[in-house]
Amino acid sequence: MYDFAIATGSKAELYRDLAASLDALTAGEADPVANMANAAALIWQYLPDLNWAGFYRLIDGELVLGPFQGKVACIRIAVGKGVCGTAAATSRTQLVGDVHSFAGHIACDPASRSELVVPIVQEGKVTAVLDLDSPSPNRFDAEDAAGCEALARLLGSRIG
Ligand code: SME
Repeated sequence: MYDFAIATGSKAELYRDLAASLDALTAGEADPVANMANAAALIWQYLPDLNWAGFYRLIDGELVLGPFQGKVACIRIAVGKGVCGTAAATSRTQLVGDVHSFAGHIACDPASRSELVVPIVQEGKVTAVLDLDSPSPNRFDAEDAAGCEALARLLGSRIG
């Protein structure tokens, strides 16, 4: 039923294809955990060279681990701490080419070398962040940021 071909053309095409698949998978489903779980699995399947892909949800002023793919991760992150906490505090995408040079980076997996964190906003408030990690330095660029921001916009109203 959910058999899809992954685009092999440009990165922009890959993200368009990923967004269309995510839209199809989450449209009409109101459960936030189901939608985050499928989103994490879909991103993991589509995007090469990741060692972690998933969500932290903003609950009572703290980021709490949500559905993800990859190794076990830190469960709670204070807003303002690390890359995820900075994205939540500023409501801005964090594109980190070398996590070793990001002051306060939280090393859940020492293999991570670069990271992209995109805030997910609903009605003007951050409700979660989408976090992607890679074992390769400089894995993510502006196209990845724009592609993941489009995914975050799509998910805003579908993850609670
Ligand atoms: N590195 C992140 C913590 C989350 S893990 O990468 C899954 C950070 O600095 O916020």
